[in-house]
Amino acid sequence: MKMRNKQRKSSAFCCNAGSRCSLPVVVWSLVGCILMIHLYSVIRQNDDENIQARLKHLAITRELEEVEEESFHMPPPRGRRSPRAVKRRGPRKPPSVIDEFLDDSSELRNFFFPDRRTVIDPSREGNDSMHYYPGRQWLDTDGNPIQAHGGGLLYVESTATYYWYGENKDGETYHAHKRGAARVIVSAVSVNQVDIIGVSCYSSKDLWTWTNKGIVLPGEETNITHDLHKSNVLERPKVVYNDRTGQYVMWMHIDDVNYTKASVGVAVSNSPTGPFEYLYSQRPHGCESRDMTIFKDEDGKAYLIYSSEDNSELHVGPLTDDYLDVTGVVRRILVGQHREAPALFKYEGTYYMITSGCTGWAPNRALAHAAESIMGPWETMGNPCVGGNRIFRTTTFFSQSTFVVPIMGLPGSFIFMADRWNPAELRDSRYVWLPLSVGGAADEPLEYNFGFPLWSRVSIYWHRRWRLPVGWKGVQT
Ligand code: DGJ
Repeated sequence: MKMRNKQRKSSAFCCNAGSRCSLPVVVWSLVGCILMIHLYSVIRQNDDENIQARLKHLAITRELEEVEEESFHMPPPRGRRSPRAVKRRGPRKPPSVIDEFLDDSSELRNFFFPDRRTVIDPSREGNDSMHYYPGRQWLDTDGNPIQAHGGGLLYVESTATYYWYGENKDGETYHAHKRGAARVIVSAVSVNQVDIIGVSCYSSKDLWTWTNKGIVLPGEETNITHDLHKSNVLERPKVVYNDRTGQYVMWMHIDDVNYTKASVGVAVSNSPTGPFEYLYSQRPHGCESRDMTIFKDEDGKAYLIYSSEDNSELHVGPLTDDYLDVTGVVRRILVGQHREAPALFKYEGTYYMITSGCTGWAPNRALAHAAESIMGPWETMGNPCVGGNRIFRTTTFFSQSTFVVPIMGLPGSFIFMADRWNPAELRDSRYVWLPLSVGGAADEPLEYNFGFPLWSRVSIYWHRRWRLPVGWKGVQT
């Protein structure tokens, strides 16, 4: 019995030439072959599509990562010293490029702040449509220069609309008196100020054509004790949406004109276009808070990140579930590094941040930082700026970080948003928007990692003129 079974079993599976094959085996083998061929062709097709998509993505990334070189001639030093002054103080030092940048009578003025003839104008059709020109005046759909400095974007998925919030600085620039406590590293021009006008909001579907939605949080004209009284300081407003409460929550830097109040303010609205109701200001965790930003993570938790302790370090802490307050949890990060203007983003589970140094309205070198947890530890990776020239790279292309926007549908590609401050005429400060990408090895390996790069490099590419990929829809895919 055992024997018979064995034989039957072996004849059913042995199908060599000349031997007898059972029909079901042949049929099932054929079906198997057909299925395998079908599977193979499906995989091939998917692979082809993937390869095509990857190639397209690569071409787009390459286009965004192309850089342009910049060169300019320094004007000869102005005004000679008298022989007596030369004897006492030596010959006049040639001005630095930054001196020229800050000098509103410099011959280089138009290079850094091109005049009205070169504006970016969404109403103008043609070759320049959809192109960014960092540093040029940028008009809204009414034909007025966009007033959204130190700003940030919010994307509202339900309407596929971007909102750009920022400081409206459309007032006269004056030299604020320095009373009492000193501000950290205050250069001669860093105390220039404008009255608080309020927070502006613009909307766009394509990140290029911006419609003015008005001032969504106005300054206060009469009540001198109010945080938003026009004589105070309101900077770097950022808005996030709270899915639980259905409210749009704005956080901003609130200060007095001497920057001694060093607080954050909170406002809410039921609509992205306001009006926002101002709630209160506080020193978060009982600490000084100057340049700041907020970041909403994928799990819906939001965080406040701010420069503290005379700007010598940053603090990061989660907000309460309604986003209206901080919790008791806080961590000190980048301690002793003197960074401000934080702009955070996340890619493939890693947190990244761009910061500036602390030199008032004058530009300085940006740094990129990375962390596995938003609460730290944060590591500094080096200067992310690529292209232009050495001076461009060591001044963040003559601008200061404010926000980083993910380019929907292009994983790893972002827009770096920065302000080119014009201290002599703050309302005429310009926007520097450039492609930022994450990829490749960081160029400054960290001390403890034995020379092995731990993080991906963050790069911001200089372009005199650039655009988002043709056909980019501006909506989440
Ligand atoms: C640098 C900050 O980043 C700006 O927001 C502003 O506070 C200026 N300093 C004022 O000097």
